[in-house]
Amino acid sequence: MQKKLLQLYPDYCEKISTQGLYLAQQLQQLGTTAAPFVYANFLSSLDGRIALEDANHGTYIPKRIKTASDFGLFMELQAQADCIITHGGYMRALAEGLLGNVLQVNDKDLVEWRRNNGLTPQPAVIIASASLNFPIHGSIQDAAQSVYIATGKNADPERIRYWQNLGYRLLFTGEERKVQGAPLIHALSGLGYKTIYLVAGPQMLDTMIREKQLSRLYLSMTHQLIAGQDFRTLLNAPMLGTEGNLKLEALYYEQDSPPGSGQFFMQFGLPRSGDTGT
Ligand SMILES: NC(=O)c1ccc[n+]([C@@H]2O[C@H](COP(=O)([O-])OP(=O)(O)OC[C@H]3O[C@@H](n4cnc5c(N)ncnc54)[C@H](OP(=O)(O)O)[C@@H]3O)[C@@H](O)[C@H]2O)c1
Repeated sequence: MQKKLLQLYPDYCEKISTQGLYLAQQLQQLGTTAAPFVYANFLSSLDGRIALEDANHGTYIPKRIKTASDFGLFMELQAQADCIITHGGYMRALAEGLLGNVLQVNDKDLVEWRRNNGLTPQPAVIIASASLNFPIHGSIQDAAQSVYIATGKNADPERIRYWQNLGYRLLFTGEERKVQGAPLIHALSGLGYKTIYLVAGPQMLDTMIREKQLSRLYLSMTHQLIAGQDFRTLLNAPMLGTEGNLKLEALYYEQDSPPGSGQFFMQFGLPRSGDTGT
């Protein structure tokens, strides 16, 4: 049964359904090819853990902070994307069976939604990598997704040749080995992508925010304190300035989810490069 949400901001509203909540935002209409709409989504505990680490599991998102409603909303964001940005580390984790595959839209209603809204059957996949050392997951070829590999100009020439010889298209979008946010989004907008979903971790989030390339951050925060000494959080980089000032756009509350607790679904706007700040 679909859980109901309370909308707490901007207006108070009861009995909002999680299903369709983010689809109704029509993100395609917020982006243009000149100024694409770039968005990210994270799931966190109240004490800021997005993942824990231990010797047995490696780095993993703890089961107890995951809910069906959060995953459903994640997929609604995925369904609206022209392209998703993932990275070499995720490709390696998929190959080792450490993480589940979220590279494709599989839900049949969402597949149909894409068709009805003029999108390609599946989003393109952009793989950011400084090492260029990862395998391509077979599901990308099976789903006939467009693929681009984004890296820095100083990436290992041998690895560059390796991918080029296999016919992959590379985007050189950083001065050193790493990708930088502004050149990456510029290159993707040049490819005609209007909605760009960042499905990556703290490092790519940092480069997007630092270079003012993120339009919106979705954050699901469960009302759980989970502790754990070795953990990942949203950002782990030098201190940010005003580019780290976010504005709340919407706040939803889901009760008893995870069971015995609850969660906020939050949506924040960020300053974009070129914004006048008004
Ligand atoms: N709870 C959540 O919502 C959430 C969301 C995301 C991630 N997580 C979890 O958090 C943990 C860490 O996430 P993560 O591994 O995605 O994050 P990460 O440490 O930020 O990213 C790791 C990989 O991304 C590539 N990369 C990052 N920044 C890059 C740049 N500027 N240029 C080129 N390549 C770059 C690198 O690939 P190469 O090594 O190939 O160069 C690097 O190994 C994982 O356990 C993950 O599952 C949780």
